[in-house]
Amino acid sequence: MNKKVLLCVTGGIAVFKAAALTSKLVQNGFHVKVIMSQSATEFVTPLTFQALSKDHVYTDTFDEKDPAEIAHIDVADWADVVLVAPATANIIGKLANGIADDMLSTTLLAVTAPVYIAPAMNVHMYDHPAVVKNMEILKSYGCQFIEPDEGYLACGYTGKGRLAEPEELLATIQRHFMKSAHREWHGVKLMVTAGPTREKIDPVRFFTNRSSGKMGYAIAEEAAARGADVTLISGPVSLPKPQGVTLVQVESAAEMFAAVADRFQQSDIVIKAAAVADYRPKHTYEQKIKKQDGDWSVEMERTSDILKTLGKKRTHQILVGFAAETENLESNAKQKVESKRVDIIAANSITAPGSGFQGDTNELTLYTKDGDVIHIPLTSKKEAAGKLLDTAMSVYRKSKA
Ligand SMILES: Cc1cc2nc3c(=O)[nH]c(=O)nc-3n(C[C@H](O)[C@H](O)[C@H](O)COP(=O)(O)O)c2cc1C
Repeated sequence: MNKKVLLCVTGGIAVFKAAALTSKLVQNGFHVKVIMSQSATEFVTPLTFQALSKDHVYTDTFDEKDPAEIAHIDVADWADVVLVAPATANIIGKLANGIADDMLSTTLLAVTAPVYIAPAMNVHMYDHPAVVKNMEILKSYGCQFIEPDEGYLACGYTGKGRLAEPEELLATIQRHFMKSAHREWHGVKLMVTAGPTREKIDPVRFFTNRSSGKMGYAIAEEAAARGADVTLISGPVSLPKPQGVTLVQVESAAEMFAAVADRFQQSDIVIKAAAVADYRPKHTYEQKIKKQDGDWSVEMERTSDILKTLGKKRTHQILVGFAAETENLESNAKQKVESKRVDIIAANSITAPGSGFQGDTNELTLYTKDGDVIHIPLTSKKEAAGKLLDTAMSVYRKSKA
């Protein structure tokens, strides 16, 4: 069944963005019903929202079309989630003070579903103590705010007050439903490592590997969307910070080790997707090594094995490691489960087409310490991340039972 979004549109220039949002929500499979304030209809006609939502648009409390129902109660009960966008200073004030003098404000008081509010207004209005106080009151009632962006405002000012973009509003709604579908992840403390490490030789040279960080970032992003409390320890990558995670950036294997060790005790689940260097130069140089005739050898030493150390130190944590192999995938992965004392090894053949480093897809086989083997056929890293998280959660649940 389609998820039901009640979009409440109040009167500001940004009403046009609410029209774009309606279209995006519908395209993404949501059933959208729209209520417009009288002021909102001054900016865009209800017909626009009716055409985009493919549903009747509500504007008047007393326009009762169905004698069997009272519209504002019926539509309030219908909603799975409510989004007020754009939210004027006026509706924020009315809702905070329990005023119900039109269809939109009356319905908002009758709603029991979660309410998201996306304010849009002039920067001075947004900063006004009355508006600030009203927003605090609404937060204390459980309403969630989607902060306005900073930038050029239609009133000619530059500052905070521009309605969040439709893509961000859509993402908020998607995250909302994702979180409600994965309540088991709420409050779970997940640490994910990602990316390569860099092992310095001199100020301009280092050893590294081909890891892009995409798999670890996909895991962190998906887990945060499910409601986990995610810390992402990342080597140097060129990926944007995933929404809603705490990002800790490191460079070398030693820094990665320290960052992970620091946070290990307070973690519930640890997923080590980083490609940490096994060796580093024995000597590093403060000055650039000058080019000379003939060969140059760099002596290498072992770095600490983070996964193995965690395996020894673990108390309650669920531990998931990755094995990137070019041969003997299964036997190496099974052996790693034993030798590193982990719960799951996610093995990928980095030579298989579409799998492993850098690309957007991956094929994984999960080997659990109970002997289960779960194959995740070639799919997007996002999808693979979701399936890996499902398995990690079932092991976590078993450990709690
Ligand atoms: C051109 C124009 C733009 C407006 N933009 C905003 C706005 O962005 N935010 C806001 O709070 N009020 C804005 N207003 C004022 C509201 O429309 C006014 O406060 C109205 O009473 C809000 O009613 P409503 O909350 O029922 O939609 C604007 C008014 C005009 C004429």
